[in-house]
This record gives sequence, C-alpha cells and structure tokens, in this order.
Amino acid sequence: MNQQGEKTPAYYIQTYGCQMNVRDSEIMSGLLEAMGYCAADKPEDASVILFNTCSVRHSAENKVYGKLGEISVLKRRNPDLIIAFGGCMAQLPEVQARLKRIGVDVVFGTHNIHELPYLIEQAQQTKTPVFQVWDKEGPVEENLPSVRRAGISAFVNIMYGCNNFCSYCIVPYTRGRERSRSPADIIKEVRQLAAQGYREVTLLGQNVNSYGKGLDETVDFADLLAMAAEVEGIDRVRFTTSHPKDMSEKLIDTIASNPVICEHVHVPLQAGSNRILQRMNRGYTREHYLELTNRMRERIPGVAITSDLIVGFPGEEEDDFADTLDMVEKVRFDAAFTFMYSPRRGTRAAEYTDQVPLEVKKARLSQLNLIQYRIAREINQALEGKIEEVLVEGPSKTDKTKLTSRTRTNRVVIITGSEDLVGKIIPVRITKGNSFSLFGEVLPTD
Ligand code: SAH
Ligand code: SF4
Ligand code: F3S
Repeated sequence: MNQQGEKTPAYYIQTYGCQMNVRDSEIMSGLLEAMGYCAADKPEDASVILFNTCSVRHSAENKVYGKLGEISVLKRRNPDLIIAFGGCMAQLPEVQARLKRIGVDVVFGTHNIHELPYLIEQAQQTKTPVFQVWDKEGPVEENLPSVRRAGISAFVNIMYGCNNFCSYCIVPYTRGRERSRSPADIIKEVRQLAAQGYREVTLLGQNVNSYGKGLDETVDFADLLAMAAEVEGIDRVRFTTSHPKDMSEKLIDTIASNPVICEHVHVPLQAGSNRILQRMNRGYTREHYLELTNRMRERIPGVAITSDLIVGFPGEEEDDFADTLDMVEKVRFDAAFTFMYSPRRGTRAAEYTDQVPLEVKKARLSQLNLIQYRIAREINQALEGKIEEVLVEGPSKTDKTKLTSRTRTNRVVIITGSEDLVGKIIPVRITKGNSFSLFGEVLPTD
C-alpha cells in the first residue's frame, strides 16, 4: 500500500539467456522500483510484465514465444496490463515485425534500457504500442539504479558488446560493438557491493580478455582483476568469458599469483577441427588451444578449465566431429556447455549451404555429452576424500534442508549445515562426486 492507501503496482520480469541478461534485469528492476513499482512473485499479480530475452539459439527464442502466448491470456483479462519486451531478441527486425502482429505494449532494445520508465509511461498514457529500439549502442550508461538478487555473490559488467563476429553468433548484432567501462566506475561498484555485504564478484563481458581497448587510460584485464581483488571485503573474484585468442601471459600470471582471483577459466573451444574453427572465424587453432590450456594447467595449480562446444556447424564432417571429441579427451574440461548449431538469420554461417541435418546434430550432441559427462565425473570422483575451500551461498535449490556452496574452481558442493554458514568460506571434505556436482561434509573448525 502507498500513503494514499492504494495498492502498490507490481512488476514481474521473466529473464532468459546469459549472465548479461541477469544483470540487465537487475537494472530493469531498479528502474521500475524507482517508478514506484514493487516486485511481484508471479506474473498474475503484476501490472507490468517484462520479458528480457535471448536470441542465441532458435530454442531460446521458442521458449520466449511460448511464454508470451501464456501471458497474453492475462492481457485479455486485464487490458491495462503492460507487456514489455526487451533484450537481444528485441534488436532483431524479424522479431519486431512478429511482435507488431502479436501486439505487445512496449518493445525496447539492449541499448536503451534506461528509457524503460519513459516508454512504459508513454504506453500507459497513449494506450498504443510503443516500439523504441536503437540500432546502435550509445555511450555506456553509468549510475542507473539496480536491484540485485540478495546474496553473497554479484555480477559486475565490465564491458558491453562484441567485435569478434564468430560466424555463427548473433551477439555482435544484438549487443553492438565492444566498449569498456572505466576502471574507476567498476571499482566503485565493487566497493559498494563489498559495503553491502557481497563477498564475491563475477566480472562480466563477452570477451573479458580484450577489456580496456578504447579507454583513455592504459589498463588491461589483468590490471582490472588485480584492482578488483584489492577491494576490502571481497574474498573472491571471478570472470567470464575468456577468448582463447586473447589470453595473455600477464593474465595467466595474475590469476596464478593472486589468492583472491579464483582459479577457474571459462575459455570456450567451440570446435576441435581447424577447418571448422577457421570457418567459425575463431582466430585460433586446436594446437594453439592445447598449448594455451597446458600452459594454464602448469602455471595455475588446480585450475578448472571449462568450455562451450558446438556440434553440427555447417560443413562439419565426421572427421571434424572426431577432432572435437579428441580435444575433449585431450583437454579434459572440468565442465562444458554443449550445443547443437542453430542458424541465426543475418550471421554468415546461416548462409552456408552445407547445413548439417538435425538428426546428425542430435546424434553428435549425445555422443559428445556421454564423453564429457564421463570426464567430468572422473574429475569430480577424484576429489572424493579431498578437502576443498567453499563459499556457502544459501539453501540448495533441489533440497531445502541442505546448503549449496561453491569451490574456488566453480564446482557446486552440497553440504549439510546450519544457515549461519551462509556467506562464510569454510573447508569441507568431499564425500561424493558426480558429473555435475559434489557432496561434502563440513569440517569442525576451532
Ligand atoms: N561471448 C561468449 C559466449 C557467447 S554465447 C564467448 O565468446 O564464448 C554462449 C555460447 O553459445 C557460445 O560460446 C556458443 O558456444 C553458443 N552459441 C552461440 N551462437 C550459437 C549458435 N548459433 N548455435 C549454437 N550455439 C551457439
Ligand atoms: Fe559471439 Fe564470438 Fe562474440 Fe562470443 S566472441 S559473443 S561467440 S561473436
Ligand atoms: Fe546473452 Fe543471449 Fe543476448 S546469450 S548476449 S542474452 S543473445
């Protein structure tokens, strides 16, 4: 209730996609709360429903359209309901055309999130759909309000956009050119997070290794990591994503030598065949990648190396796929996200005529998963009996009587213990390891 005794209007955000979107949704929440809205637990209770969408694969888009169909039922019941649609899908002309037909109230893009309050008000006043998507990125917007998920770990954007144009990827089209935030703004945000009780930050960018280009000062990602690690109260610094072509010696040394920086590098290989890597426009070879990951393993004791892998890229023959499996066996990823190639309109690879049939992609994905899951299980089982330092995050999502925690290497460890362990860094003994998680027992501390 507000002071006039009226019910406070509520908003609900449905978020899809990567950590960037999770972070953007926190900003959308901040903007809506500054307008006087409060968060609703379910869409039925909201007068503004927001979709923050992802277009990285066809399946991601389908999920959004499915949910939009469900929500449209609410709109029929309540014509004053505002449905707002933002994120990566909103940047695409074919999606905008479809949204015009479906009839949503507000469409905004990834470059004009800050305009959201104004666009919602406009739609409420005019009772007509408001479409406002910028084709190009503007300057980096600082000082927007944001409502972060309560907890002990927070995401911090350090850069936006991507210049790499991997031939399969829509992100450079939906997020614009690469631009870095100033180190002063980033460190100020990390300090504020520490003051609010967060103990861990994850620095976010599509390619964090190229951080700093275009800034007035000379600063690179290794410098920024070291600065973030110095912030008092922040015990762990993580980062994602690293591009194999831009991983410097200095960065490896910084990760190796700084105890606050976690020894986990997400460095997507995508494919194991040099011919496919070249067609993907990735800018490295399998030999380079192997040499890089071997070097990281030598120099950063206990480092976890994780990857993204795509099967069925256009022109991928059995030999090429065998090269991916071979790399998976050689590198032994601690974890990997695996995907079937999905053609994205407007990208170069979507034009290639030698698309791989769906059945072949499916078969390759399950073959790859079998191998990757086995390797991850072997690595995790080898940890049984060992002691790991974990940061306790909160109640486990699957079993509320347990707690979930994370090792420095980003492995989830399910433990039994009291809630006052949340936010603490404690040693645990690993009792069991499977492909995706570990179980551990809390060790007595004196
Ligand atoms: N910037 C990050 C991740 C971007 S998207 C990086 O460069 O690694 C996350 C992952 O989605 C990619 O690493 C890739 O494996 C996958 N992906 C991107 N486009 C895809 C497509 N068209 N089909 C299938 N997977 C795709
Ligand atoms: Fe996409 Fe490649 Fe940029 Fe990653 S580096 S966001 S895969 S274009
Ligand atoms: Fe992220 Fe999906 Fe956009 S992966 S950058 S939300 S296309």
